[in-house]
This record gives sequence, structure tokens and C-alpha cells, in this order.
Amino acid sequence: MSEIQAKPVFKPNKEFSKNARIKNMCEYHELQDWATEDYEGFWGSFAKEKITWIEPFTNTMDESNFPFVKWFEGGKLNVAAQCIDRHLDTRKNKAAIIFEGDRGDKQVITYLDLFYNVNKFANLLKNEFGVQKGDRVVIYMPMIPEAAYAMLACARIGAIHSIVFGGFSAEALKDRIEDAEAKVVITADGAYRKDKPYMLKPVVDEAIDAKSPVQKVLVVERNNEDITWVAGRDYSYNELIKHQSTKCEAEVMDAEDPLFLLYTSGSTGKPKGVQHNSAGYILWAQMTMEWVFDVKENDTYWCTADVGWITGHTYIVYGPLAMGATTVMFEGVPTYPDAGRPWKMVEEHKINQFYTAPTAIRVLHKMGEDEPGKYDLSSLKVLGTVGEPIDPPAWKWYYEAVGGSRCSIVDTYWQTETGGHIVSPLPGATPIKPACATFPLPGIMAEILDPQTGERVEAGEGGYMCVTRPWPAMIRGVWGDNERFVKSYFGDVKKDGKPVYFTGDGAIYDEDGYITITGRTDDVINVSGHRMGTAEVEAAIKKHPNVAEVAVVGKPHELKGEGIFAYIVLKSDSGIADEVEEVKAINNVIKKEIGNIALCDDMVFVSGLPKTRSGKIMRRILRSIAKGEAITQDISTLEDPSVVAKIASTVQSCVI
Ligand code: WT7
Repeated sequence: MSEIQAKPVFKPNKEFSKNARIKNMCEYHELQDWATEDYEGFWGSFAKEKITWIEPFTNTMDESNFPFVKWFEGGKLNVAAQCIDRHLDTRKNKAAIIFEGDRGDKQVITYLDLFYNVNKFANLLKNEFGVQKGDRVVIYMPMIPEAAYAMLACARIGAIHSIVFGGFSAEALKDRIEDAEAKVVITADGAYRKDKPYMLKPVVDEAIDAKSPVQKVLVVERNNEDITWVAGRDYSYNELIKHQSTKCEAEVMDAEDPLFLLYTSGSTGKPKGVQHNSAGYILWAQMTMEWVFDVKENDTYWCTADVGWITGHTYIVYGPLAMGATTVMFEGVPTYPDAGRPWKMVEEHKINQFYTAPTAIRVLHKMGEDEPGKYDLSSLKVLGTVGEPIDPPAWKWYYEAVGGSRCSIVDTYWQTETGGHIVSPLPGATPIKPACATFPLPGIMAEILDPQTGERVEAGEGGYMCVTRPWPAMIRGVWGDNERFVKSYFGDVKKDGKPVYFTGDGAIYDEDGYITITGRTDDVINVSGHRMGTAEVEAAIKKHPNVAEVAVVGKPHELKGEGIFAYIVLKSDSGIADEVEEVKAINNVIKKEIGNIALCDDMVFVSGLPKTRSGKIMRRILRSIAKGEAITQDISTLEDPSVVAKIASTVQSCVI
């Protein structure tokens, strides 16, 4: 406890607080008390205020079939219209998206431009490809404005998009296409990274075989490199878009019509298609944008995420556009041409809110400690972090060198499943402590519970991070698998006998009730803010013919947060002569099955794994060995306790 208590407190900047939407902790408590006392009144009121309804809702929430919850029933809206059309009266010439390419090329897209571009895109999907309401469309795109147009075009015609991060392999893409039964894929020939073209279309080609549900592929030509075109299947966006009308009626959608799927990793099996629906999601995307980043009318906001992750969905596209903000989209990497790139962009675009991941902060710190000092960063007001716990040294550098000890840092805690932030400081109100997500946002009944008793834990005790009431942006389902939805999120913790939403994360309160997230409690690891199921990586490694058994755990990593550590038992007849070659071969399998993001940092070949008599692998022991910790766990229940010493000595002698 003492360590947590000793954390210094940083009060919000007074000048900033004066104009903030939530100005102090009293205002925060008022909102949170309102939600506690009149939950439906609270949400109903914001839903009326924030959403431009085509038809008003009649029932704020229905939880009679919990955890299958419905929000704002009877309400009709269109999320693309919420993000674009309704701003045209007041903001038609305002920049909606400012794009900066890897090579420094720039493009400003006004709300009126966005309106026309999205309408044309929507017409293309509808009229040329026959995409209809409810159809699934996979988007496999680089960070270019067309990715945002594609998302909004789907929303406009009621199609359900499922974005697959561009770093995923053909196999991973294929699995997601098939699970969602997508009939259209939107991609690009490729894009630019570090001044060089890279390719995406060949991956799509590989992911589509004769049995694929995909009928059409739309290709945005970004880098004009040579690609293969399959006649009757592949079409050039650049050609087709020329002939589309700029008028496209927005489909009238029910509040609970699905908006998108986004696949994410769980502790078991294949990735799950997290489903978000229309009204609840867009409401919370907009509210959190306003509260947590406190973006003002003339501000320029930049989130460095990729649209392939939930952060890119909620905080590059949907949230900023729903509130009528200017959002920056960046194609490149933060360290190219040097580790001053983001700060140069902050200076040039006069960025007011900057949102990134601890991994990026650590890398930028390491590679360019003094870079921020070379630029004028005085436009910055709010700095955000997301994706993993941030360590105090990275926090300090971010606060001092980037924020000039003047900006609030919002350490936003949330997940793909929560749609938007759930625990976060409010920049004008919350006195912050380094590396601390602080308090639940107004309306979010987040609590740290004891998994056994379901009671709120005492300060310093640690427990499970839960949300005890459904909220509008809560995951609505796992695509095609209701049972998995219920089991994954509502099976582990009960409060007053009733199941509550469990995030999978551990957390702890300090003496002042501040929440610090301590990390996953399940077999999910977090590599550079990317969520990875150990089971998924193991399944990939097992595809190598020489592998008999494998166990994967996370190991703390200086830059990535966690690295992937694999313990591999080879088949006795595999006849491996060269371990280095074997490591390469296994990494190639991972690359093919998942992608480069899942490559192992450490791989050791061991003679056996620590298993209980019932055959369960004791990952805790493997985690300790990977960290180089002494084994304190009871190993007497293992089938063969001697295996532990053997593994430990192998690890000590050979780490790749
Ligand atoms: C997991 C969710 C949230 C968008 C990006 C990742 C971890 C996220 C924080 C934070 C500590 C964090 C959790 C969570 N996480 N934000 N501020 N402090 N941990 O989304 O891929 O769904 O991963 O990221 O472990 O469960 P995701």
C-alpha cells in the first residue's frame, strides 16, 4: 500500500478547469449521484440531448433478459447522419478529418467533403455490390481517410462493418471473414510506411479461397504498386467512385441495430466478434469524447491508434465526428523519419488533445528523450493514454517533457467490449496520480469486487474490475455465439447473487478510492497494447509439425509492456539439429497464422510442461520462471514436480 499512497497528486490546471465541461469533483459527484439515484433518468436525458433521433425512443432500457440488454428501444437514428449530416448547418466548412500521410502529404476533409465522400461510397456499396442492411463488410485497410469513409458508408446503409487490423495475416483475416460471413471486403493495394510502400491486397487474395463467402473486393489504390485483379471479384474504388451520386438517403436504423463487429482475443479458442449496436455505442462515444478529452469547437484532436482496434473506431472516427470535432488521421509510424515526428505534427497542426499508447510513449522516450523540447507544444491541453498500464517513468516524461507540466493526463481504462472509456480522469476535475485510471466515469457503475464474495474490496486489497449495471455502450453479443458471450463476461463474479460484467482485469483501490488497473487475471496478454490470447498463439505454434506441446505466457517487456514467452516441447522424433532454425521456422508459422504482432520474444525448448494430475498446465509457474522469479507456488500437486527445476535451468541457460 505504501507505494500507492505515496503517489503525488497533480491538480488540474486552473485555467483549463474554468472552461472545462466538468469543472471540479463536486460536478463529477453530482453527475455520478444522479446516475446512482436515477439510472434511467440519467441516461435517458443524455440520449435525448446528444442524439439527433429520427424517431424518439420510448423505453430507456430493458434489462429483463440480462445480459441481453436493450437501450433506447423505439428510437430510430442513423449513426453516419449523427456523425455528419447534423453538423452541416453549423460546420459544413469545418475540417472533419485532417490526414497526414507517411511521406508528409496532407489532406483536409471538411464535413461537407465527408458528407459527399461517404454518400458516394455508400452508393457504390449499395448499387454496384448490392450491399444491404445487415450484411457484413470486412474492412482491411491502412490508415487513410477512405478507411473512415468505408466505416461511415456501411453505417449509412445499415451494413455491419468488421475491421481487421492490417497487421493480421491472411489466415487471421480468413477466420474473421468466415466467422462474420462477410460478402464484401474493402481493402487497399497497400500504403506507405517509413517512406516505402507496403502491401495489403495480396493478403486479401490469400484469404479468399473458393469456399469464401466473399463475392466482391473493393480496392482503394493508394500506393499504385502492382497487384493482381480477379475479374468479376475485384474492383477499383478510384474508378467506381467517379460515377457515384453524392446523394444517399441514410437508412433508418433501430437503436439496437448492430453497427459493427470487432474481433478480439479471449482466454480460450478463436477471437470473438464483439458486437456493438447503434444508439448506445454512439451516445457513449460522443459523451466520453466531450468529457474525457474536453474538445472545444476550434480544437484539433489527434489519436494515434489504428482504425483496426477499438480505439480507432471510437476515438478516431465515431466519437470525434459525433461531437463535430476535427480528428487527425496519420498513416505513418511515430518514429519515422525520427522520434520527433509526433511533436512536429503537434506543432504544425496545433494539436490540442493527443491520445496514444504507453508503448509509443516508452519508445518515443527512449529514442528521443529531448525531441519534444525542439518543438512548440504549447497548443496541447490534454494528453491521453490507453491500452495498458502506464509505468511511472513514462508517465513522468509524458507529463513533463510533452505536456510541459501543464496538461492533464487522462489514463483511460476501457476495452473493446466497453465501447468507450469506463474509468478515467476528467481533465478539468480529477486530481490525477501518475499511472492511475482514477474513478469510474459518470454513469458507469464500475467497482472492484472480491470474486468470491462479490463485495467491494477494501483499499489495498485488490480484486476484479467489474461493472455492476449494464451501460449503453456495453458489448451486445459475441457474433453467432450467445453462450460464449454470457460465459465470457457474466460467469465469474456475482454481486448480491446477480452476475455482473467482469472485464478480465485485476484492480486495486488506494486509500483515496483511486483505481489502479493491475492487469489481466486471465490468459490474455497485452503486447504493445494489443490484446493476444495465449491460447491463440499456442494454437498457431501447434501447427508446426515438430511441436508436441506448447505453453505461452506473458513476460514483462521494457518497451512492449508484455512480451510473448513460449515453452515448447518438441516431438521426440523431430530430430532437431539447429535450435535457431527451429525458432525461425516456428515464428514463420506464427506469422502465417496470426501475423507479426504475435511473434515470440522468447522461445525455449523444454522436455516437459508443469501439469496437474488432471492435465492442466500451471501457467503461473511458467510466468514466474519467465520473469526469473523464485518459485513460491506449491508444486506438490504436479504430476511430475521435477519438471519445474528442469525448465528453470533450461531457461537460465538458453534464452533467445
Ligand atoms: C485491455 C483491453 C481500450 C482500448 C485499447 C485496448 C488493458 C486498456 C488500460 C489502462 C491499464 C488498460 C486492459 C483491458 N487496458 N486500457 N488505461 N490501464 N490497462 O483494447 O484490445 O480490448 O484491450 O487493455 O487489460 O482489459 P483491448
